[in-house]
This record gives sequence, structure tokens and C-alpha cells, in this order.
Amino acid sequence: MADDKTLTCPLHEVDTFDPEFLQNPYPFYKRMRQEAPIYRDPKTGIVAISKDAHIREVNRHPKVFTNDFNSMLEAGSTTGITDEERAIQDQGWERVDTMLTADPPVHTRYRKLGMKAFTYKRVLGMDAGLKERANALIDEFISDKKCEFRASFANLLPMYVIMDMLGAPREDFDKFKRWSEAFVVQLDGVSDDATRIKAAEQVLEFQKYFAKKSDEKRNNPTEDVISDLVQADLSEEGDPRKLDTAELLSFFAQIMVAGNESTANQLTDALYQLITHPKQMQDLIDDPSLIENFVEESLRMLSPTNNMWRVPKSDYILDGFEIKAGEPVLLRYGSANRDADKYEDGENFDIHRSNAKEHLAFGYGIHTCIGAQLARRELKIAFEILLSRLKNIRLSLQQSELNYSPNILLRGPTELHIEFD
Ligand code: HEM
Repeated sequence: MADDKTLTCPLHEVDTFDPEFLQNPYPFYKRMRQEAPIYRDPKTGIVAISKDAHIREVNRHPKVFTNDFNSMLEAGSTTGITDEERAIQDQGWERVDTMLTADPPVHTRYRKLGMKAFTYKRVLGMDAGLKERANALIDEFISDKKCEFRASFANLLPMYVIMDMLGAPREDFDKFKRWSEAFVVQLDGVSDDATRIKAAEQVLEFQKYFAKKSDEKRNNPTEDVISDLVQADLSEEGDPRKLDTAELLSFFAQIMVAGNESTANQLTDALYQLITHPKQMQDLIDDPSLIENFVEESLRMLSPTNNMWRVPKSDYILDGFEIKAGEPVLLRYGSANRDADKYEDGENFDIHRSNAKEHLAFGYGIHTCIGAQLARRELKIAFEILLSRLKNIRLSLQQSELNYSPNILLRGPTELHIEFD
């Protein structure tokens, strides 16, 4: 938790990787926006950017500020990647940069294929299945009049949606869950070596599973994203061939991490916001047409992809501040989304806010989230159903403060115990 010291000591004394700090970085973000909106930490060399306009400018210049940040993800807690982790990785397929960690022109051609697999038509076509899944999950716990919402609902709905999109059978759920958690460890920036080694083993298992699935779908295509991607042709992009296994695995891995964790984080944290703002929850119950704006406002407030890396390939002057080629840049989307120059009373949650949708929770520019439409539909449908079926939702007595997973990039509560009538 950001304590008084965090808010008064010299900026360079604040350890922004400390799990305690990550519980609630928002008071510190506010201080950064006011005192040092572009700030180079002398200890780590990281340049943190915390205002909306600056982040937009960075993302408008992808040739300078690249997404070539694998080395940052591999950095682990303190020691960098170990030989043991590397040895496990070597048994699998090499990592290929397709979307998130690729830059143009490579990014451009892969992203076109990704967009084809995530058409709005496909997303809308999932509505009926989404409603059915959400209702079935609620059926499991509604008579108990209480549940741990993250495990009983928020973790499950996005996972089922991704599994449906990928055409994976239900019985593989536990595997998907383990793999998804392993990918999150690879992103968190704070896990120890032993945890990272276990995660590498899971990722290897994931690769073998999907390599086999891709072979099956090559021979027997069905209506799903794996089949689309194995058949996708790069000839339109001047490269007449199909995606190879390593490329396909890169796509699937990104869909798994982004599709599950961020949406699960958002479902949980957004419900907590509503419970702690009962008047606004009542407004939504009285007028469900407000749910779309509630989804945007909760994304703005909570920003489950709280930070994202960039690596500048050349020097750049940003609003008078010189950023040097090669130094790690951290885009603080979570901070920008509360920027007072953009949002009136931005620290407050207000489902009636007129410009909520202008947030950067899905990024901005060429890497803008390709799952944004899907995530929005999931959140909208989930809250429509939750609010219509669970009455008088409240925190259970055992739930005091929320505990957020320590993660530099992805932010979300580990548990949310609720009761209802
Ligand atoms: C609430 C849920 C979600 C949030 C907050 C979120 C947030 C983001 C953000 C901020 C980025 C931009 C990263 C950057 O600036 O470099 C991004 C990229 C991406 N997201 Fe999402 N995302 C969500 C859900 C999803 C879903 C459901 C999927 C797919 C099933 C998905 C797939 C991706 C992919 C593939 C990229 C990389 C795109 C590229 O680099 O061109 N996301 N997401």
C-alpha cells in the first residue's frame, strides 16, 4: 500500500516493484503526474510516463518507441533468466514475435491475420454462448447466497470464451487454467526463479498441446480461431506461405494471456467498485442501459493492463524531456486514465462520466487491443446477468481489503468474497 512515506520521500526512494507498493500505486501515480510526469528512476534507469497526452504521443511514434521488450519480460525478479529456465525453453519452439512484441513491418502483417480471426461478426456471434455460460456459472452458486467471485465466475467466463473461440474441449479446462497462470508469471516481473522454472514447464506443455491441435485442424478445419489461423495465408502480405508452428504458438499464447487474465481481473475489480458504490449499483439496476458506460468507466478507473513497456530505438524529446535510445520506458496507462487534464475528478468512480470511453485501458495506436470488442461484450453481458439475478450484492464479512497480485503490468484482485439474497 502506498503509505505516507511513499508520498513524501524523494521519488527515487520509492520501490515501484515492491509488492506492497503494487497494492495501491494510485496515490503515487497522482504524485508523479504532478511532480514528474516523465521520470527517469536513477536506480533502475526506467523512464515512467504517467500522463495521457504523453502516452498518446509515444504510441503515435512506434518507429521510435518499439514493442521490442522481450528482454524486460525475461528479466524476472532480479537475476534474469536462469540456465534451467532456458533449458526448458530450448525443448520447445522458439519464441516468435507476432503481435504484442513485434514492430512494423512484421507486426503489421501478423496483426492483419489476428484481426481477421477477431472480427466483430465473430464476437457478436458469441453472445448467445456467453449468456448461456454466464447463467450456468451463476446456477452453480446462486443457492448458496455467497461465493468467492473470482474463482466461481471471473476466472471461468473468459477462459470458457477463449476455449470456445479456439475450439478446445471443456475437459481441458484445468490445463488451460495452469497455462494461463504460467504466462502471467512470465509477465509479472517479480516472481522468483523456482516459480519461473515451473512456469516454463507449463508453457512447454502448452506448446506441445497447441502444436498437436494445429496439425489436427490443418487436416480437419472447423469454425474456430485455430482453424482460421492455420489456414491463413501470408501471400497478401507478399510472403506466399502459411504460418508455421512457432508463429501459431505465439498467436495462441497472446490470446490466452490477454484474453483470460485481464478480463478476469476486470470482472472482479469492477464488481468490487460497484459494491463499494451502492448508489451507482442501484442506478445500473434501475437502468441497465447504463451498463455500457459503467464498463468504460470501470476500465478507466481500474486499468487491468496497468503498465506497458516500450523500448526507444532512437533518442526522442518528449515535452522537453530527452529520452535516450535503449532505455526502458514504462507507459503507465493506469495513471493516464486518471489524469486531471483529461478527466474531471478523475480519481472518482462515476458511471455517468461523459468521456469515460476515451480511456487508454486498451492502449492506443498500432498495438491497441485486438480483443477490446470481445472484452467489452463479455463485461456487458456478465454484468447484465449478474445484476439481474443476484440481489443485494455485498461484501462478505471475511472480505476486508482487496489483495492485488503483485504484477508490474497486469493488475487485479486475487479474491472477492461476496454475499447476496
Ligand atoms: C479487459 C480486458 C483487456 C484489456 C484491459 C486489454 C488491454 C490491452 C492493452 C492495453 C493492449 C496494448 C498493449 C500495448 O500498448 O502494447 C492490448 C493488446 C492486445 N490484446 Fe488486450 N486487453 C483485454 C482483453 C483482451 C482479449 C479478450 C484478447 C483476445 C482474446 C486480447 C488480445 C490482445 C492482443 C493479441 C494484443 C496485442 C495487439 C498488438 O500488439 O497488436 N486482449 N490489450
